[in-house]
Amino acid sequence: MGWPSILETMEGRSGAEPRLEVHEAECLAWMQAQSADRYDLVYIDPPFNTGKRQRARRTKVSRDEDSVRVGFGGQRYRTEVLSERSYADQFLDYEAFLAPRLAEAARLLKPEGSLFVHLDPREVHYVKVMLDGLFGRDCFQNELIWAYDFGGRSKIRWAAKHDNILWYTMDPKRYHFDREGVERIPYMAPGLVTKEKAKRGKLPTDVWWNTIVSPTGKERLGYPSQKPLAILERIVEAHCPPEGLALDFFAGSGTLGAAALRRGRRAVLVDETREGIEVMKGRLDGCYGVFER
Ligand SMILES: C[S@@+](CC[C@H](N)C(=O)[O-])C[C@H]1O[C@@H](n2cnc3c(N)ncnc32)[C@H](O)[C@@H]1O
Repeated sequence: MGWPSILETMEGRSGAEPRLEVHEAECLAWMQAQSADRYDLVYIDPPFNTGKRQRARRTKVSRDEDSVRVGFGGQRYRTEVLSERSYADQFLDYEAFLAPRLAEAARLLKPEGSLFVHLDPREVHYVKVMLDGLFGRDCFQNELIWAYDFGGRSKIRWAAKHDNILWYTMDPKRYHFDREGVERIPYMAPGLVTKEKAKRGKLPTDVWWNTIVSPTGKERLGYPSQKPLAILERIVEAHCPPEGLALDFFAGSGTLGAAALRRGRRAVLVDETREGIEVMKGRLDGCYGVFER
């Protein structure tokens, strides 16, 4: 049984090729059944091996005179849990889990394609060694640091406030990279450059400052580890050609798919949990896609 095809519900678009596919599947088995050399960009944000189950709740706070919870100005409030979502994030051998999936990702990429692997400092060094072996050291292009500043501060070490995103290309020299296509950012010290330059902004470097998905903002879908759309849009814009095809086989809430659609690219999204698929369906339904079990 499959998800109803949204194509059928979209007036005037029936019969045309979908811009989005979403599959509920274990990613290794799914990839092994796909033909090679299809994707311009593979972005993955695998479980980080935190050793915990990752959970996120969406809640609604409303006034309730009968509640025992007293807040600002003596008002009584009630918190209602709208949804709780989670996925397992504990592996006995994380590298053994990732290795065959990364090898499949390489097989599915086109000769000029790129792989982005989103990690954190706990595992990045092991995965980088693995990717050097798989792609070749000369195919390593960047380690992007996504820096944010939110939440508590450790008392026993410097607060960890960054993720690491490894970029590898199939070919060390020939690959798609449209750095001029991305939005420019303000200079840190605009007084040190000409007025024209300051007005134009600068190209981002390998350190990307961007806030996390705000816990109270509109972008938040209540999915654990949801990544900011702005980060994914920059990756899609620079590394997937217009009308190109991107893949995320740890898709979660479907941020890569949302970014691809916003930037005029196509995407295939895979996640093994029903929760992920339900969130993607809510987020991307009506965006001209096909959902399959
Ligand atoms: C860190 S989350 C991805 C979050 C996503 N980037 C977003 O912005 O919402 C990792 C996802 O990988 C999925 N996952 C874990 N193991 C998987 C597997 N073997 N096959 C497919 N999906 C898997 C989990 O269900 C989870 O949704």
